[in-house]
Amino acid sequence: MKKHSTSTILSQKSEKKIVMITAYDALMAKLFDDTADIILVGDSLSMSFGGDSDTLGITMDEMIYHTKAVCKGVKKALVVCDMPFGSYQDETQALKNATKVYKQTKADAVKIEGGIERADIVKKLTDNSIAVMGHIGLMPQFVRLEGGYKVKGKDEEDKKRLIKDAKAIEKAGAFALVIEGVKSDVAKEITKSVNIPTIGIGAGRDTDGQVLVWSDMLGFFDEFKPKFVKRYLEGADLIREAVKNYAQDVINGKFPSSEYSY
Ligand code: KIV
Repeated sequence: MKKHSTSTILSQKSEKKIVMITAYDALMAKLFDDTADIILVGDSLSMSFGGDSDTLGITMDEMIYHTKAVCKGVKKALVVCDMPFGSYQDETQALKNATKVYKQTKADAVKIEGGIERADIVKKLTDNSIAVMGHIGLMPQFVRLEGGYKVKGKDEEDKKRLIKDAKAIEKAGAFALVIEGVKSDVAKEITKSVNIPTIGIGAGRDTDGQVLVWSDMLGFFDEFKPKFVKRYLEGADLIREAVKNYAQDVINGKFPSSEYSY
């Protein structure tokens, strides 16, 4: 089993769709490793597992802790660590924190939200041999500034801006680009306008790959379901049912039976 690298991911553009999924621990990462090309330790961790209302509170050290765990479960997939809000406000801080990710974990790359305004930061990292995945469109770290999660690419001006963003991030040396919450036709044009692979989430089917948050796609997080999430399992229902059965067995004295006793 050959480990994915940034160059194998790059070579998949227009050849083979890229499958990316989030994971936050070794247990899940191990289950996804056979199938996923890329495992993203997303700052969505903050919401999916930390119970926060947005991603802004997660810290660099928390991301590093979870990235270390994910790397222990992975043999094949490329591992990407999301740089949390406030960890890459200027080039010096970004390089210091991304270097810490490389030193303290086995992550293959970091991910940074932002377009043209963050291109210098991406370049600083790639110039210092740190692989970067970009992230444009709806950027969850901008939620408080923008007053909500807003789909992008709704008019011609926005489309042109997104294409400029994508090209700037590509020129800065990123090996791949997440496009989130963007009209499908615009995501298709962005994909055609760059030579690096695009990975969509809520961006239609014409990107070079797709990413979903694992607890959303497997239905473990079931408080609400964004339009772009397809559930492949009703995980929360399965867990509630299993825990109910366990509780019944405990209450009725059926567990542990002799089979489970010394
Ligand atoms: O944090 C995350 O999980 C992400 C993906 C949704 C792209 O950034």
